[in-house]
Amino acid sequence: MYDIIIIGAGPGGYVAAERAGQLGKKVLLVEKEELGGVCLNRGCIPTKTLLNSSKLYKQAKGPAPYGVHAEDVTFNWDEAMTWKKKVVKNQRNGVAFLMKENGVEVLIGKALLLEGKKVRVDNKIYEGQNIIISTGSSNFIPPVPGADGSNVVTSREILELQEIPKSLAVIGGGVIGMEFASLFSNLGVKVSVIEMLDEILPMMDKDHARVMRRDMKGIDFHLSCRLEKIEGTSLIFSTNGKRETLEADLVLMAVGRRPNIYGLERIGLDIDKGQIVVNERMETNLPGVYAVGDVTGLSMLAHSASRMGEVAVNNICGNRDRMRYNAVPWAVYTSPEAAGCGMTEAEAKASGRKVKTASVLMKHNGRFLAEHGKTAVGTCKVVVDAETEVLLGVHLIGGISSELVAGAAAMIESELRVKEIKEIVFPHPSLSEVIRDAVWAIDR
Ligand code: NAI
Repeated sequence: MYDIIIIGAGPGGYVAAERAGQLGKKVLLVEKEELGGVCLNRGCIPTKTLLNSSKLYKQAKGPAPYGVHAEDVTFNWDEAMTWKKKVVKNQRNGVAFLMKENGVEVLIGKALLLEGKKVRVDNKIYEGQNIIISTGSSNFIPPVPGADGSNVVTSREILELQEIPKSLAVIGGGVIGMEFASLFSNLGVKVSVIEMLDEILPMMDKDHARVMRRDMKGIDFHLSCRLEKIEGTSLIFSTNGKRETLEADLVLMAVGRRPNIYGLERIGLDIDKGQIVVNERMETNLPGVYAVGDVTGLSMLAHSASRMGEVAVNNICGNRDRMRYNAVPWAVYTSPEAAGCGMTEAEAKASGRKVKTASVLMKHNGRFLAEHGKTAVGTCKVVVDAETEVLLGVHLIGGISSELVAGAAAMIESELRVKEIKEIVFPHPSLSEVIRDAVWAIDR
């Protein structure tokens, strides 16, 4: 009998296992593929590795106002892929080490959750006092004729390409679509994006999304367009009832992901719209059965899954804890990079609040100017509750936005007010000062 059996070893499952191990629990972690899940093996980590290679290439090829010249710059896809594999392997070994260090038993095999908190793996039954389901999500393929063609891939296959395509059509201008569009555009591939809505990156501040799209000059955007069918290398899509066609060697489907439920309804688990229903303690309707991460459909981000895993473990161990979503940061590692935390101006207004906002341009920041120049895209926008002066949202585009957003998350999670943020000392020169400057710009 285990204290906790965890199904799925992504950032939800392996972090839960690590924390439970640290708290002295007897833990079994079951994974059908490899430790680390989609994030480590086929998502965040390999994508960021290849994106970095593509950014270095773009920068080396670009104009050189900084006094550094590189001649005959080339990009070697095989070497970039070898580097990616090394990074992934290293991280995976790190997770294996953490499991060992915390006394977590790891079992590679496909788990089937049965009634009574029993789990079957390879015809053997394991029993747990508690179960954590962290089975993640899979790419959704829309029912479009031709979507099963050999030149149509998802984020999984595109990370294993043998060679760089000449042209790429990306279906869906969300996070996955835009990161791959940026990666291949940086490498000189002719990239087109077909997006159903009237703007890319729906979770982003609309002004920032527009700025990003306009700055991605090499990419051909088709907004408010719906893909109708794929015929070989021809993509037929419609916009305002009008049909258009574009040609692409490779098609990436990036129209969202769906929770991996694997028929869990049969044990009486409450599932709504394909997602496991959980409360803020990550409890499902079945006593002792918890669910965390993408499978809940609540916040499909690796770091949300990890925090949900911690919340589940804390509650199992009798340390009351609850998941909050209002200060979960997000980041898109495109060129330019973007990140945000908390409410956008539109969301804050839609919630019925009176809001105040301020934006500052990063080109007025010393470090940004030194490293990017004054024509590079860069803005920080803050959203504040007009009545309480509490910080509601921070939205960044440009520079190393993804590294700044954790500071913003700390302020939003702590419900800091404008007056309190003004008292925080930021290092100079650093890009982080844009957050302080934007807060100072409120009421100016
Ligand atoms: P998404 O939900 O972010 O974006 C999908 C996009 O496809 C939307 O803009 C939608 O309007 C569009 N779309 C849907 N059907 C369409 C159609 N038939 N034709 C054209 N456009 C269509 O989903 P995505 O990008 O697949 O990512 C899945 C999940 O993975 C997201 O929840 C995301 O947060 C997560 N993720 C996060 C990353 C990060 O934090 N950097 C990186 C990659 C993924």
